[in-house]
Amino acid sequence: MKDLLRTAHLSRDDLELLLELARRFKERPTQHRTELSNQTVVLYFNKPSTRTRVSMCTAVARLGGIPLTVGPTELQLGRGESIEDTARTISRYARAFVIRTYRDEDVARFAQAATIPVINALTDQHHPCQSLADLLTLQEHCGPIDTLRVAYVGAGNNVCHSLMEGIALMGGTVAIATPEGYGPDPELLGEARALAGRHGGVIEVGHDPGAAAAGAHAIYTDVWLSMGDPEEERARRLERFAPFQVDDALMARARPGARFLHCLPDHPGEEVTAEVVSGPASVVFDQAENRLHTAAALLYALLRDRLRGAA
Ligand code: CP
Ligand code: NVA
Repeated sequence: MKDLLRTAHLSRDDLELLLELARRFKERPTQHRTELSNQTVVLYFNKPSTRTRVSMCTAVARLGGIPLTVGPTELQLGRGESIEDTARTISRYARAFVIRTYRDEDVARFAQAATIPVINALTDQHHPCQSLADLLTLQEHCGPIDTLRVAYVGAGNNVCHSLMEGIALMGGTVAIATPEGYGPDPELLGEARALAGRHGGVIEVGHDPGAAAAGAHAIYTDVWLSMGDPEEERARRLERFAPFQVDDALMARARPGARFLHCLPDHPGEEVTAEVVSGPASVVFDQAENRLHTAAALLYALLRDRLRGAA
């Protein structure tokens, strides 16, 4: 498997390997420090980023390489050069290409034309790199994924899709609660349910945050308005999503000792209260740190051609 465009493209073995590699990078950050000696990795960001940008750049540096971050105004892509020619050109210079943009089909076109690994660093529908860090954090704080119930409360967005695919592959239970009309994409949900069926996982989808949270080992939320969602929807969404805020009362519906997860950046007072995100249940900065170790693992595995992909 050359690229990582979405979590469901991984096999369960791939996912377990990546999490194991990430644990090893966390213990010994400088192992494989010559893997990328004298080589570059190009990172293209067409949306803002703190965690993905800095963790990926740091992971490249720890593997001995040089990260080159570029944006739409710096590449000829922004002046109309085709995705395919950009991908073919960069493939002649760099060892890997990391891309954050809007349309999933644009990333698929990049991957198709590139001869180097392409990593999706967030699109409108997927955030596979985030899901790797989420799974590692859940393992560390809550236990083996196939023993867990994880509640995802809020918008059925890119982060929700990748988390649902990751938990399905690992045989866990994810209970998703969103306002009506804001659930996960039906096609992606169907595919994730098929994966869950093969791996002993369960995906529940509904509109009752309390029911999703009941007995959960962890509650996860993300922003109600993602990058690229129309700003004029903000006021309407604040009203529609208000009952889905993660607060102390919702946390109390989960198991004793349940953890709170959020990919960050957050909007305290909107999708989560300041008390919860800054409280003792919150593991959001462990999640953020795990972006680094999982990024190193992913780069290493792709460069070494260690991923087999879904059957
Ligand atoms: N969680 C995440 O992807 O954060 P950034 O947008 O800061 O990269
Ligand atoms: N769903 C959010 C995640 C940001 C890391 C977005 O796409 O803006």
